[in-house]
Amino acid sequence: MPKRKGITVSRQIMDSQQTHPEATGELTGLLSELIVAAKIISAEVNMAGLAGILGQSGKTNVQGEEVQKLDDFANRTLKRRMEQCGYVCIMGSEEDDGVIPVLDGYEGKYTLAFDPLDGSSNIDVNVSIGTIFSVHRRKSEGKQGEMSDLLQKGSEQVAAGYIIYGSSTVLVYTTGHGDGVHGFTLDPSVGEFFLSHPDITIPEKAKYYSVNEAYSRYWHDDTTAYIDKLKDMDEQGERSYSLRYIGSLVADFHRNLIQGGVFLYPRDKKSTDKPDGKLRLLYEAAPLAMIAEEAGGMAITDDGRRILDIEPKDLHQRVALVIGSRDEVALAEEYFKKG
Ligand code: AHG
Ligand code: MN
Ligand code: MN
Repeated sequence: MPKRKGITVSRQIMDSQQTHPEATGELTGLLSELIVAAKIISAEVNMAGLAGILGQSGKTNVQGEEVQKLDDFANRTLKRRMEQCGYVCIMGSEEDDGVIPVLDGYEGKYTLAFDPLDGSSNIDVNVSIGTIFSVHRRKSEGKQGEMSDLLQKGSEQVAAGYIIYGSSTVLVYTTGHGDGVHGFTLDPSVGEFFLSHPDITIPEKAKYYSVNEAYSRYWHDDTTAYIDKLKDMDEQGERSYSLRYIGSLVADFHRNLIQGGVFLYPRDKKSTDKPDGKLRLLYEAAPLAMIAEEAGGMAITDDGRRILDIEPKDLHQRVALVIGSRDEVALAEEYFKKG
């Protein structure tokens, strides 16, 4: 069915459910509950300066990072809505050390991993932040789900997406299998997401590269060689690149998805405590990789492996990420596979 700009996200999810005769409506239900949580978080983000919810919560999360009050709010909102929606059996969050069970009697057939609020350093300064989510079908057969249900490869995701709280609030999601990537903009006056970006395809050639260049002295030689190559191509007039780096993965990714770009968070020589880079596989890299591939782009590690093929071993596992336009990630692959 052709996508019509302006249809609501609920209508779009139901339409696409109808193209899958085996669908039971549970994924539709799950996504609808997530969308309600996103609207609540969006409203709070917009009011944050007035509601006294900026700043740090005083807590430190499992990864040793300061938890902001809004991180905490987003995490609690998502957990509270999803633990009793009846569609998930277990959850994992950046802000919780272990797995998050659902309420007794509400176990469903999916799992949910999420980064409640991505881009913490931008929360207090009105720069775009977002929520990232990843959905898998459960494997275990008990009542509650298990850790192993969450530790599945990205290629097995049944849905993935993010909500960006920026100049407007935009939801981008995919259910894979050629169903496409679609973007919806929240009209806050009526509290509804309307289709604004049907069938998103990422430009094949990048306009931007996005990397924290302040760390360049710690980069491995392959990373340096690749970025030098991009700059050289620019100098030779083959391409015309600009650097854009917000420091919110979700915002950097969204810009590159719409306008064409490659985002890198490579390993570096300095981080002995983070030998695999900073970003997390299950609720940052894998869901965005699913969107990138479904939109015609690519996502690999800085040693040339496809993100979606990585077998997770840990809920909070980190992974180096190179993601975005096909031509630029394919070029990165040539550099990184050599290493
Ligand atoms: P989070 O706020 O969920 O902890 O994630 C922050 C991440 C990501 O959004 C961003 O790309 C990256 O941190 C920026 O890190 P640097 O400041 O090291 O560049
Ligand atoms: Mn994050
Ligand atoms: Mn976060």
